[in-house]
Amino acid sequence: MKSINTKSAIVHFNENIYTELNNYIKSTKPSKIFILVDTNTHDACLAKFLARVETGDIVVEVMEMPEGEDHKTIDICTGVWEALSEYYADRKSLLINLGGGVVTDLGGFVASTYMRGIDYINVPTSLLAMVDASVGGKTGVDLGNLKNQIGVISEGSMVLIDTSFLETLPKNHMVSGYAEMLKHGLVYDKSYWHTLLNFENLDVLALDKMIYDSVVIKNKIVSKDPTEQGLRKVLNFGHTLGHAIESYFLGNADKVPLLHGEAIAIGMLLEAYISTKTVGLLDQEFKDIEEGILRTFSKVEISENDQKAIINLLKYDKKNSHGKVKFVLLETIGKPKINCEVENGILLEAFKYFNS
Ligand code: GLY
Repeated sequence: MKSINTKSAIVHFNENIYTELNNYIKSTKPSKIFILVDTNTHDACLAKFLARVETGDIVVEVMEMPEGEDHKTIDICTGVWEALSEYYADRKSLLINLGGGVVTDLGGFVASTYMRGIDYINVPTSLLAMVDASVGGKTGVDLGNLKNQIGVISEGSMVLIDTSFLETLPKNHMVSGYAEMLKHGLVYDKSYWHTLLNFENLDVLALDKMIYDSVVIKNKIVSKDPTEQGLRKVLNFGHTLGHAIESYFLGNADKVPLLHGEAIAIGMLLEAYISTKTVGLLDQEFKDIEEGILRTFSKVEISENDQKAIINLLKYDKKNSHGKVKFVLLETIGKPKINCEVENGILLEAFKYFNS
């Protein structure tokens, strides 16, 4: 598969990745190599990765963090910054983030801020990180339950996508990544959306192609607007309500936390419904979206009290400006509209529909 050039990084796939990485290490000669893993990727991916990497006489240190969204915190960053410092990482050191979106987001942030920035490479091991998190330079951590509230946009040098890591990924995490692929279809490419709906019948090669196409779509959008002044906002379709739902479930002891993609799937369904009421999405297209999402994702109970709390959390959305919540909605599949304001009554109507 052909490598994809992003604004300042390059994304390599499968057969090429270890040759590219080894050549990169040989030519850039990092002073030390640090590999950030979480408890899962330490066990499931690290040995396989190390077996293919040629580091010569460069010292390699592995740093392990606990797995899961609730560890995407500034405290964990402090631990990683301290470990880098204790092992005398300098500005010529390289950090390799081997893991899902939490590891690539947090590791990218640590690298972009340690000594004002050191080189980093993402090796995404989850579907979500392959198609979304590790590409485009959004790095950061959560602030309490608020998602990705602290961070910087800063691309590493490379993203290395080895889809064989997906063999050990639990099904619910595959499904979570699938939500972001659906989003890419909904905001950019109707035929890609339709291809994805036949996902269940596809073999591994077809999955690789869909992952590749998702990265191509994301890169087309991000390279036109790397700092999210306008166009890149379309990638937030489903995320205004989705992030608030994810935060609410994460911070509420009575709820089972949702994976990112599970919350985004609900957000996309709600925001597609809102699109029919506000920006002219046709009912038939909405029905297709609803059917496509509910084929894979289950509904969860969102009571009236939950709805109030979720709507309250919208105040913290990163796209807000001048106190106004701004949604990305769909005029049709493949044609999003950014900066839409939505009345509370319509939000409540969408939840009512969702619960019906
Ligand atoms: N995950 C959305 C973006 O990278 O803009």
